[in-house]
Amino acid sequence: MTDTHDYEQTKSFWNTRFKAIPVHRFTSERYGNKLLDDALDWLIENADRILDFGCAPGTLLGLCAMRKKADYHGIDISSAGIKKATLTFQENKLETGTFSCGGVKRLHEYKAGSFDGIILSNVIDNLTLTDCAEVLKATKRLLKPGGKVLLKLNDYRDAHALKAYGTKSIAGDLHEETSGLYLINRTTATWETILKNDFEIVKAEPITFEPHGITNRLFLLKRR
Ligand SMILES: C[S@@+](CC[C@H](N)C(=O)[O-])C[C@H]1O[C@@H](n2cnc3c(N)ncnc32)[C@H](O)[C@@H]1O
Repeated sequence: MTDTHDYEQTKSFWNTRFKAIPVHRFTSERYGNKLLDDALDWLIENADRILDFGCAPGTLLGLCAMRKKADYHGIDISSAGIKKATLTFQENKLETGTFSCGGVKRLHEYKAGSFDGIILSNVIDNLTLTDCAEVLKATKRLLKPGGKVLLKLNDYRDAHALKAYGTKSIAGDLHEETSGLYLINRTTATWETILKNDFEIVKAEPITFEPHGITNRLFLLKRR
């Protein structure tokens, strides 16, 4: 296996995607999906400092900033994503966003207990197994006690779905998609067992995004 930790294919995939999209102009503070909007409201309540790891063009952080003034930080391995996130905040006149390009190591640059909330949306299951564990460990370290996590994961794929998507097995739960992106494919029960070590699971439910009919898994967590 090559490129496990430099994520060259991941960077190239997302850089191409993010270069091609326009800067998001917010016309509303709502995303338009009730479960996600409620989750963002829950995350920002009483929060002064929020981190989004895998923030992409800053849409979720931007929606938070549209609702509430706070200190927003975004990290993403895609330089194009970080450029767009910076522009998203500038062009929507949202003044409190700080964005850095990088991967898991960037999380070590912040002090323990320095965030009230952390967004991990469709990112930790696209990492290597080691990095996924590292991000969860760092999330616990970076949150204040009782701090909140909005976690979103891809849906579980059974053997038939893995085959249909052309997903290649690498090792254990780790797979590689035809796009070159990693996919950690775990059942909800397995994720819950892992998450319960460090977090209280406040909510766990499927979330569907219309019109594409994509279903993800949404978890609201509190640091123990
Ligand atoms: C599926 S997108 C999700 C974007 C956004 N969080 C959302 O929910 O719309 C995955 C994002 O994670 C970022 N990413 C992937 N691997 C990463 C890594 N090792 N470190 C930081 N960001 C990473 C990608 O560049 C991309 O922006």
